Amino acid sequence: MAEIFENVSLRNLNTFGIESRARRFTRPKTKDELIAMLQQNPAAGLEKRVLGGGSNILITGDVDALVIRYDDVSMDVVRETDEHVWLRVGGGHNWHDLVVRCIETGLAGIENLSLIPGNVGAAPIQNIGAYGVELAEVFDSLEAVELSGGEVHAFSSEECGFGYRDSIFKNREKGRYLITDVVLRLNRKPDFRLDYGDIRSTLDAMGVEKLTIGAVSEAVCRIRRSKLPDPARLGNAGSYFKNPVITEKEFEKLRGKYPVMPGYPSGAGKVKIPAGWLIEKAGWKGRRIGETGTHEKQALVIVNYGMATGQEILDYSAGIAAEVESKFGITLTPEVNIW
Ligand code: EPU
Repeated sequence: MAEIFENVSLRNLNTFGIESRARRFTRPKTKDELIAMLQQNPAAGLEKRVLGGGSNILITGDVDALVIRYDDVSMDVVRETDEHVWLRVGGGHNWHDLVVRCIETGLAGIENLSLIPGNVGAAPIQNIGAYGVELAEVFDSLEAVELSGGEVHAFSSEECGFGYRDSIFKNREKGRYLITDVVLRLNRKPDFRLDYGDIRSTLDAMGVEKLTIGAVSEAVCRIRRSKLPDPARLGNAGSYFKNPVITEKEFEKLRGKYPVMPGYPSGAGKVKIPAGWLIEKAGWKGRRIGETGTHEKQALVIVNYGMATGQEILDYSAGIAAEVESKFGITLTPEVNIW
């Protein structure tokens, strides 16, 4: 059974770099170790919480729980056809390492998702997405272990209920499972997605003549590095808020007042507005209050200048949301998980 530690600092385990202590902490490396631990229930009475790569979380105080960090990094091919390869990956595997491995072995489908921080097991929870691709497109299935008794459950793509930065694991089933394995269906032949933002212009600037998944990945890495702060240097958890989705009617009304307001069709009479634009126009881009601020190149990213507490970041984010609400009548909701 995995060892249980007491009073453990989580500072190096969350990319905001916030100091917080977990009452109990454990790092099972395999599903058997995890299940044995859950069944023996060594910290009975304590709530169990799962920490992945810590890259999408804001911790606002000490954590009175048994915090489980799942470290299974295994990977194997479960099925192959002429067109596809189904790859099973342990939930503790680093996401970007997986992307690199896929590119090296010529498996396409996740190159646009390069450099997203975090672990594979967390990817389905918020259906990670970037540069015109979402995890749901390559997702086959997952296995998850129920935290209350160690029972293993399988989920198909439909059962996960994927939406924009959303799944049942963020809503109905929040806190119930630990995702131990994810099966992805990758493509032998690439289906290049180059229409989002600066991908094409970056590939041109790189002087790419023959398009490859490696080149697309490199372009995505360059764009991300130019806009998003490296958590190793400046604490952050990527986009702090979701991009709000409003009705076409509301959008037209706002356009009357703000003719350059960007909006992207989001199905069924809905429009997605970049929260970064709203925050910038509300005057918060590059703003700093004490140890907390909004990144100067991407207003959707809140940063920790070093010594911010989780509560300070939460208060700062509430200030942003209040001003966006009063200026545009749009409610911003956090994309990060708040503990
Ligand atoms: N914009 C501004 N000012 C800003 C930032 C953005 O005006 O300070 C406007 C611009 O109009 C820009 C548009 O917002 O064209 C879109 O910006 P960007 O391409 O940077 O994407 P985003 O909508 O802000 C989303 C994801 C990111 C993902 C990028 C690229 C969400 C909440 N965020 O950001 O995901 O990397 O698209 O696909 O959907 C994350 O989830 O942590 C994350 C970084």
